Amino acid sequence: ARSVILDADPGVDDMGAILLALASPELDVEAVCAVAGNVPVEATVRNALKTVALAGQPGIPVLRGSARPLVAEQVLGKHAAVGVFPDDIVPPTEIDPQSGSAALFIAERAIVAARDGRRLSICASGPLTDIALALTMDARVARGIERIAIMGGAFTALGNRRPFAEFNMLADPHAAASVFASGVAVTLFPLDVTQQALLQDHHLATLRASCGAAGKALAAMFEFSDRGNLARYGRPGGPIHDIMPVAFLIAPDLFTLRPAVLGIETGGSTAGHTFADFDAPAGDVPVAEIAVAVDEERLFALLLGRLSAYGER
Ligand code: BDR
Ligand code: CA
Repeated sequence: ARSVILDADPGVDDMGAILLALASPELDVEAVCAVAGNVPVEATVRNALKTVALAGQPGIPVLRGSARPLVAEQVLGKHAAVGVFPDDIVPPTEIDPQSGSAALFIAERAIVAARDGRRLSICASGPLTDIALALTMDARVARGIERIAIMGGAFTALGNRRPFAEFNMLADPHAAASVFASGVAVTLFPLDVTQQALLQDHHLATLRASCGAAGKALAAMFEFSDRGNLARYGRPGGPIHDIMPVAFLIAPDLFTLRPAVLGIETGGSTAGHTFADFDAPAGDVPVAEIAVAVDEERLFALLLGRLSAYGER
């Protein structure tokens, strides 16, 4: 199985991403790191703990991530008022986060992986603060990371938090710039691709009917997320953004990827705006792979099939 650290800001779709990863034998989840993003870090840590408990895997370490972006003013998610997942939907848990910071944990695990001749994958579904910090700590960190699969950015799609910026990129543009420049392989899942697969009411019905307590909780939480915006998505349903990079680490052939030179604006009114040159001459850096298309039907079949493993719990 592929060793992976999830760095997330749960977050409803982050919760789905964590549940999918923990139900998938292709992935060996070393830890869940909870960074400030959709909600403040105290709440993302609580939500991550509740999610691993809901998954029946309370032994998965949960690390406290960064409380603030590197340089920018903090921007929280639009649904920040939800805060900690309501106890009647996602039951409370007594488990505590593991001591130590997420950034240090990621750095140490990457160094150990490199020393052992292994490599670690990272799935980032929130602002990139922890990952940027980890990469700055020691040059060996980058060598221990095989790939970072990131939900973030918008190219031809409009932004979802500013006209030109997607939330995760806006929330810490300096961290994103630093990760893109680190030389570590990046696969990016921007709004352009995450808006191609929409969770419909019939998917929610399947989650409730055949995926046990985890599926019921996730379906109920999705009611709080960005759904039914026909003007934006052109058809019913809502995106499941963060689930995509996890699905990619499980089944890369669900996606069409294109190499591009990747950049991000860090200041002014366009902070968080990502740009990609798909026609850059060979040798230009930094090169990332950008997901441009997804097999929607197979993606939902994977998600619902895997989550049905929680049926017995
Ligand atoms: C991203 O922002 C968050 O609200 C979601 O969890 C996702 O990671 C989408 O722009
Ligand atoms: Ca997220």
